[in-house]
Amino acid sequence: MKIKNIHAREILDSRGIPTISTEIELWSGDKGVSEVPSGSSTGKTEVFELRDNDPSRHNGNGVLKAVETINGKIKELVVDKEFTSQKEFDDLLNSTDGTELKSNLGGNTILSCSMAFARAVTNSLGLNLYEYLAMIYWDKEYKESNFKLPTPMVLVMEGGKHGNWATDIQEYMIVPNMDKFKSFSEAFKSSTEVFHNIHDVLNERGYSVGLGLEGGYAPKELTGNEEAFEIIMKGIEKAGFKVGDDFKFALDLASSEFFNEESEKYILKSEKKELSTEEWIALQKEWYKKYPIYSIEDPLNQDDWSGWTSLTEELGKDLVIIGDDLLTTNVKRIQNGIDTKAMNSVLIKLNQIGSVTETLDAIRISTDNGLSSVISHRSGETNDDFIADLVIATPADFCKFGAPSRGERLVKYNRLLEIEEILKR
Ligand code: PGA
Ligand code: ZN
Repeated sequence: MKIKNIHAREILDSRGIPTISTEIELWSGDKGVSEVPSGSSTGKTEVFELRDNDPSRHNGNGVLKAVETINGKIKELVVDKEFTSQKEFDDLLNSTDGTELKSNLGGNTILSCSMAFARAVTNSLGLNLYEYLAMIYWDKEYKESNFKLPTPMVLVMEGGKHGNWATDIQEYMIVPNMDKFKSFSEAFKSSTEVFHNIHDVLNERGYSVGLGLEGGYAPKELTGNEEAFEIIMKGIEKAGFKVGDDFKFALDLASSEFFNEESEKYILKSEKKELSTEEWIALQKEWYKKYPIYSIEDPLNQDDWSGWTSLTEELGKDLVIIGDDLLTTNVKRIQNGIDTKAMNSVLIKLNQIGSVTETLDAIRISTDNGLSSVISHRSGETNDDFIADLVIATPADFCKFGAPSRGERLVKYNRLLEIEEILKR
């Protein structure tokens, strides 16, 4: 595969913050375009996101330096060079950067090129993106029968940084019981019905139905974290489903976002509480007894490895415990989590690690060690549906694509609906 041209542009993400779109054209004439996402509640060990820091544009968030790097230095590096694999392409950019966290070229810069290359090659081979990604994941030997639709964790309400601190818990998601719903489309349709019924419950209470960054309801009128559980349970019932049987909760507590490093306390603004680690765990355990919870993400601060290990030892039999900020899609950190039994599931975000190859490696090490994985969007999303194909290509069990309410989220769900249809043929 020889690249004829590469061209990047600054575009805006779903928050109205700049991000990069890159197009790669091969000599075959096939093209691939990428649009990279960006996080708001980012983990400390994510790869470096290159921004201009020029206060006169976009509050310092411009990405013109990244765009210039792609249209200059990277273009010189890759045009007319023969690549035989995705890994070769990604390795070249990584070695040119030369740092562990991609601090020279930027993780966003490298990922943008990596995703565009994947799409261009996919098109040149006449494949679906999930088939190309499966070829890499399974080392060319993929079987059609490996392709399965994920269980969706569908966002319905949100708080924290994403929802103007309506609640301390960042994401309230519902997880459909797949034995009951049978297919992805049926489960997604039913989740959407619950979402609409939650709207009606909020309306009845005179609460705002404004949406947070990922499309979930984020009413400031809530009296605390627990009222959101109550409202969602009402919405499930109103939609004609059974709480616990048909839907359980998946939570992203995003605990690092309200952990104060100096006082070592978890500051729960919506409840006006400052809790020690023990008190925070005790409060969570009350919730987990009271409500039907399926999974919890980032229940503790990202540096508290020993806390994670004890929590997983205590609750890991009953709950899926997912590491996001703790692991940042980083093979070394995931290995550490495996060695210390810190979690039993891994969140996967392409831009936490900054290349397609390394993302697939993170899913592989998780799966090979018996951990489930959750393919995730970011709060700053684009209309790129890459992650829908990623979840199909790999053994990842779950997808976390936000609420069924904003274009940049729906484009991913809709791609899954399309793939479900293709796989049935
Ligand atoms: P982010 O949030 O994209 O703002 O980091 C998503 C998450 O924490 O899972
Ligand atoms: Zn998270």
